[in-house]
Amino acid sequence: MTVPTLTLNDQTTIPQFGVGVWQVPPTETERVVSDAFEVGYRHVDTAQMYGNEAGVGAAIKSSGLSRDDLYITTKLNNGFHEPDRARASLEASLEALGLDRVDLFLIHWPLPTQYDGNYTRTWQTLIELRDAGLTRSIGVSNFQPDHLDTIVSATGVVPAVNQIEVHPYFDNPARGATQRHGALVEAWSPLGQGGGELTDPVITALADKHGKTPAQVILRWHLDRGDVVFPKSTHRERLAENFDVFDFALSEDEVTSLNALDKGEDGRTGPNPDVFDWIPA
Ligand code: A2P
Repeated sequence: MTVPTLTLNDQTTIPQFGVGVWQVPPTETERVVSDAFEVGYRHVDTAQMYGNEAGVGAAIKSSGLSRDDLYITTKLNNGFHEPDRARASLEASLEALGLDRVDLFLIHWPLPTQYDGNYTRTWQTLIELRDAGLTRSIGVSNFQPDHLDTIVSATGVVPAVNQIEVHPYFDNPARGATQRHGALVEAWSPLGQGGGELTDPVITALADKHGKTPAQVILRWHLDRGDVVFPKSTHRERLAENFDVFDFALSEDEVTSLNALDKGEDGRTGPNPDVFDWIPA
């Protein structure tokens, strides 16, 4: 099974499919990521805020896999937006991950009501961290269309990705803005956090038709729309199930029927980035 590779706007490449470790407890992370590597995953999406980078690092170390075959993303914690703290935090992430550089470093949340609303300075800091070689690519997460416009017009540097909440019940409006800027969309909570989508009749009917599970149909929908996706599961059999999506495709009509499940703002499961202001203690 071959995971497709997409080209980012900085001309580097990213595997379109990976494993996410949000909500994977630190004590289980090495086992989950090791299972994922054995299944065939090579792309891991973590974050400083998840508290489990060391577990990812331990799995990388024990895997024996070549660094060049792996794609590792982490994200700036909300408390570290000042330039010096951002740099120190990325150095600490590299230490925990056992890496000289990550492949992708993201601003986790724009926090427009914190830091005097100055997420442009944070973006400028990520540009400097990339230029210093601590990360190959840089991007953002949870940026709304106006946040993207602000940082691009101030710096001229378009993020490689915008990682945002996207699943069939929430076709995030920031998706179109991200694509118009020439950035890739990364879909977080791609399965809707195991909520209603997995039993939605439109999705279960497509699953029966294709001889696949509802989770596989949803993941295929993300892939067929061109987004990067990294479902989380702590169960090895589900990691394998989620990875088994490269032997079928949805028709254009089937993609359209899933697009129609969008509930607008009611479908959002996570915080609204315009007001989210949480800084961990
Ligand atoms: P678990 O870790 O117990 O397997 P999302 O990626 O949208 O945030 O969704 C993650 C949630 O979906 C987790 O609760 C995970 O539970 C569950 N999940 C992951 N893969 C599957 C699957 N193939 N079938 C059903 N639930 C899944």
